[in-house]
Amino acid sequence: MDVVLVGLPGSGKSAVGRRLAGRHHAAFIDLDELLELRVGRPVPVIFAEEGEAAFRRYEREAVLSLGPADPDPQVRRVIATGGGAVIDPRNRWLLYRGRFAVWLDGAPEVLGHRLGRSSNVRPLIVGRDPVAAIRDLAAARERFYAPALQIGATAQITPIVNALEERIADGPARSVMLLRAETAIGRVEIGQGIAAAAIGSALRRQQARRAILLAEPKTWEVAGAGIADALAADGWPVERILLPRGENAKRIRVVEQICRELARLHVDRKETLVAIGGGALTDAAGFVAASYLRGIPIVQVPTTLVGQIDAALGGKTAVDIPEGKNLVGAFHQPVAFVADVAFLATLPARQLRAALGEAVKMAVLGDERLFELIEEDGEAIARRDKGPSESGTLAELVERCAWAKVEVVAADEREAGRRMTLNLGHTIGHGIEAAAGYSSILHGEAVAYGLRGAFAIARALEMVPADRAARVSALLDRLGLGVTPPAVSREAVREHIATDKKHVLGRLNWVLPTATGVVVRSDVPAEAVAAGLAAALRLTPVANTGEASTRP
Ligand SMILES: NC(=O)c1ccc[n+]([C@@H]2O[C@H](COP(=O)([O-])OP(=O)(O)OC[C@H]3O[C@@H](n4cnc5c(N)ncnc54)[C@H](O)[C@@H]3O)[C@@H](O)[C@H]2O)c1
Repeated sequence: MDVVLVGLPGSGKSAVGRRLAGRHHAAFIDLDELLELRVGRPVPVIFAEEGEAAFRRYEREAVLSLGPADPDPQVRRVIATGGGAVIDPRNRWLLYRGRFAVWLDGAPEVLGHRLGRSSNVRPLIVGRDPVAAIRDLAAARERFYAPALQIGATAQITPIVNALEERIADGPARSVMLLRAETAIGRVEIGQGIAAAAIGSALRRQQARRAILLAEPKTWEVAGAGIADALAADGWPVERILLPRGENAKRIRVVEQICRELARLHVDRKETLVAIGGGALTDAAGFVAASYLRGIPIVQVPTTLVGQIDAALGGKTAVDIPEGKNLVGAFHQPVAFVADVAFLATLPARQLRAALGEAVKMAVLGDERLFELIEEDGEAIARRDKGPSESGTLAELVERCAWAKVEVVAADEREAGRRMTLNLGHTIGHGIEAAAGYSSILHGEAVAYGLRGAFAIARALEMVPADRAARVSALLDRLGLGVTPPAVSREAVREHIATDKKHVLGRLNWVLPTATGVVVRSDVPAEAVAAGLAAALRLTPVANTGEASTRP
């Protein structure tokens, strides 16, 4: 077995690691030393000569060079990581999967004072007040350390090593938890094979007396039944409530049926629901939780890529009425959001591909690494190849999109400002979805058309460079998104846009791309909108090149 030590600078990873390795006659690997050996220069020199980005690249190569986790139940290797190694989602995937990961956790004041007395040069601390620097690092990194077993980083090494010894016999977990964060919009947990344990711990935190699982027939089959078995094996009485599949769950009469079922089960105000399903199920179950007894807690467990990167996060819940989709709803934040990428293995390819439309949107909002990831592996994800799941690429995509949404929503829960940016591509996208009667086009597919439209508008207004527009267009082409003209009329889309929810005092707020991100504008002239519509509906061949035509 490999034991991996993570934690802030000054938490004693090397000292503890050496002692632990000595006790087990295991190899000790200091990741920074390994990196220095490979690169042939000390870490402070790499930072000074090439900067942090290059250092992080070398660090990633060093993590990769560790090879597969050692399956021997005896401790064979103890690996002390640099404090920032686990920032990179792929490093975490490699370091936490099949290895016994331990977080040496110490108060920033204690670690800062320790570092102040140390002669080691720490590039991210140098020249700063060490306690303040450590406090900043702790705030930025805690969610990456938190999946590991937490042990207090006391001044004495022996008690730490003893505490560790007591737990090592458990061996590494079969699941891999990649991120755990307490946020203003609930606890967020992302990983693979984590669902049942994460739900169990959420229910314990809520002091629940039973597990009330809401699912639909398909998500019960692929996820719910396994979760129910695991929870029952852990001693939880389990109740199951099934909603209709897909969008059929989002009906007011379904909400009434579920509320009546909850009443029959004598569910009280303190009880917690667990929603297991795609965006439709989590929207409907979220609305039930927001309404029943004027609001009860809910744990959202999305089983689709759309659900994991978007729908189940952020507290928007809704059902449809004949007059329109999502017209009846409420804001209701879950107590926990659990994204388990293992569930994506059974998702139909079309669902995965469509969700990438939303992922491209999140990349355009300002995540260059996400952009590259979709450019490199998007097609493989859309084809349902095994590679992206095995390499942690799919998990990284989920984490990047989900965390970006957490940050936006935590800063602007009610969409008074920044949250509006998440609507990039959605004005024309929603128009197309509505014009198609929400039947033939999936949401992410519509967003891809909408993205093309938003870029064409921004080009017409000279807000975005041609090469950026061309890059997005080429990526959507490669993903096979928004390629063929949708079977909707321009007039119908235009009509739906005229009644869009993003209107404020009669003016429509457009989210439009710039060179590095997006801006919100309500002064978009009709000719630019016409250019956007033409590009989105694939009516103008020039739109393919990123060059918007102003022809309607
Ligand atoms: N609340 C929000 O902020 C928000 C954001 C985006 C979308 N949404 C809503 O989300 C809904 C779309 O969500 P969706 O794309 O997840 O679709 P969905 O919930 O309708 O699920 C799509 C299909 O996949 C099946 N499925 C679900 N998980 C599966 C799995 N793991 N394996 C195999 N099949 C599985 C379902 O049974 C269904 O047939 C829409 O109603 C949309 O309005 C809400």
